[in-house]
Amino acid sequence: MARFLFNLHLFIIIFLFFVLVVSAKTHRSPQMPRPAVGFGKEKISHLNFYFHDILSGPKPTAVPVAAAASTKKSPTFFGAVVMTDDPLTETPDPKSKLFGRAQGFYAFASQEDLSLLMAMTFAFVDGEYNGSSLGILGRNTVLSKVREMPVVGGSGLFRFARGYAQAHTHAFNVTSGDAVVEYNVRVIHY
Ligand SMILES: *[C@@H]1O[C@H](CO)[C@@H](O)[C@H](O)[C@H]1NC(C)=O
Ligand SMILES: *[C@@H]1O[C@H](CO)[C@@H](O)[C@H](O)[C@H]1NC(C)=O
Repeated sequence: MARFLFNLHLFIIIFLFFVLVVSAKTHRSPQMPRPAVGFGKEKISHLNFYFHDILSGPKPTAVPVAAAASTKKSPTFFGAVVMTDDPLTETPDPKSKLFGRAQGFYAFASQEDLSLLMAMTFAFVDGEYNGSSLGILGRNTVLSKVREMPVVGGSGLFRFARGYAQAHTHAFNVTSGDAVVEYNVRVIHY
């Protein structure tokens, strides 16, 4: 009987040993980072451009696509959604060099003030940034002097991007609703 118990103990010890060895192999130790091929050092980039939100004329770049029944009565246009394909240019002149386009939408998201939800891609078409993009998602209190919105990601040259965009209205035409907005975007990326 004692011999049987001894064997049983031995068996359990050997069994546990194998369990430990196997689990150690399958659970790769986390302190062995693998170098990510193709990514250099992190850097911070500053981009400055002008955003043209054109509602008037024969070729508007911002078009209202939806509204609630109550939007008409709302002093803050609560419930309205506007789709954009707004040019991003080098200077406030709409004919200056095209850097990219702001494709997405803004939605009037506040019942109290003029505050937008901005959800858009800044898709760049010029120089080294051509083909790369940044994702913007945030609150835009349009009457504030400077508004800040998070940059939530990017593609191409801006993979893994994070940062913020600051918007400052350069010109606003109250008759047409057209606006030119200066953007300063700071992003960390590889
Ligand atoms: C940007 O890239 C596209 C597609 O590769 C190309 O057709 C276009 O000429 C490029 N534009 C500039 C300004 O480099
Ligand atoms: C503002 O918009 C109206 C209507 O489109 C236009 O007639 C007027 O010239 C614009 N004003 C400026 C300063 O661009």
